[in-house]
Amino acid sequence: MRPKGRILDIGCGSGRDLKALHDRGFEAVGIDASLSLAKLAAEFSGVTCLPMRFEDLQFEHPFDAAWACASLVHIPKGKLVSVLRRLHKTLIGGGILFVSVKVGKGEHLLRDGRFFAYYTRGEFEQFLTKAGFAIDQSWISKDYLRPTQKIRWLNIIAHRANSAKTLGRLQQLKKMKRYADQNGHSR
Ligand SMILES: C[S@@+](CC[C@H](N)C(=O)[O-])C[C@H]1O[C@@H](n2cnc3c(N)ncnc32)[C@H](O)[C@@H]1O
Repeated sequence: MRPKGRILDIGCGSGRDLKALHDRGFEAVGIDASLSLAKLAAEFSGVTCLPMRFEDLQFEHPFDAAWACASLVHIPKGKLVSVLRRLHKTLIGGGILFVSVKVGKGEHLLRDGRFFAYYTRGEFEQFLTKAGFAIDQSWISKDYLRPTQKIRWLNIIAHRANSAKTLGRLQQLKKMKRYADQNGHSR
């Protein structure tokens, strides 16, 4: 990622990571479905945070990276690929995605009304691949904020892979370059 690149925090909550990214010199922007959290995050971090749902994700100018810490767990699995495809569109080619979700199986609606989807590593990686991401790294970690609980997090770093169309164009460009080199047209 280029120094001081643009990064989108998806489901930024109260703005902890937005502030950390901003303090490190990134041009950070946050979104959260909750209007009150979006306001709180903007006040706390001092950067733009918009009330926006993952399902409506859309930006005119693409981001160099996206940060989705503990947020995509609230999306039903049936909607995940379409949300990830939206996310894919908000990134530049090669743009980086960090995502963390809870390890486990299935989906649950808790008594307090919160919805959670749980994933195995292979399952989430398949969703990412389907949406056009290439996986770079994945690892499982403890919940450092609640060490007494048995929660485990699946963390993945991926990037926006080139589409077949772009790859086709790149191959064509390479062929043209070879032709130009062979015929003494290039400098
Ligand atoms: C567990 S919190 C994580 C907050 C923050 N990323 C962190 O690591 O502390 C999940 C956040 O996702 C937001 N959220 C849940 N469903 C959402 C949706 N459909 N669209 C946008 N934000 C959503 C919630 O409002 C909440 O702030």
